[in-house]
Amino acid sequence: HSPSQSRNTPLIQNTPPVTSEPLSLEQLRAFIGDCTRCPLHSGRKNIVFGEGNPTPDLVMVGEGPGFDEDRLGRPFVGRAGQLLDKIIAAMGLKREELYICNVVKCRPPQNRDPEPDETEICGRFLKQQISILKPKMILSLGRISGRYLTGNDSASIRSMRGKFHSWNGFPVRVTYHPAAILRNREYRRPVWEDVQTVMAELGRPLKRS
Ligand code: URA
Ligand code: SF4
Repeated sequence: HSPSQSRNTPLIQNTPPVTSEPLSLEQLRAFIGDCTRCPLHSGRKNIVFGEGNPTPDLVMVGEGPGFDEDRLGRPFVGRAGQLLDKIIAAMGLKREELYICNVVKCRPPQNRDPEPDETEICGRFLKQQISILKPKMILSLGRISGRYLTGNDSASIRSMRGKFHSWNGFPVRVTYHPAAILRNREYRRPVWEDVQTVMAELGRPLKRS
């Protein structure tokens, strides 16, 4: 078995349950506090809680903070974030209209993928956050977010795309991460199709195609 399993089993057991019934975003943030509930705490500068409209139609969920996000304490503010801003503009939205967050709230060292136990622990907060936000739709950005929100820890983006999933009753659409588009421009078209589907489902169909 993997080293992370043996390392991390006790961590999950030692994790205090999330509060019974929250509350507000501010109260959830206060509950998270100066969190040390998973190993990612040791390398972070700032917890990136997430930001945006507290009553959004759409929530976007990325993977975890990168270098710039960790430094600034805000989601998607680096290179991938700049591309995400363009995607949001192309969707006819303003960043403040939606809510943007990540599966894990602390930056993994060297931007490695978060480990399953880390997503499991921090995902409890995401779950509460989404329950507070009550969006009409979740757009899941990338493999890690997609796997977490669809509950399939080995799925490919290809297999997760093209349908609606449900996470705790909230509809989820999975698409490529903007960082993946930066590496491979061929992902631009499928992402555009996915955001068109999302906007149509939200009753705000896009004209440009
Ligand atoms: N990549 C992510 O998944 N999330 C961020 O906030 C920034 C880059
Ligand atoms: Fe806490 Fe989440 Fe940061 Fe882990 S990633 S230390 S659970 S806030």
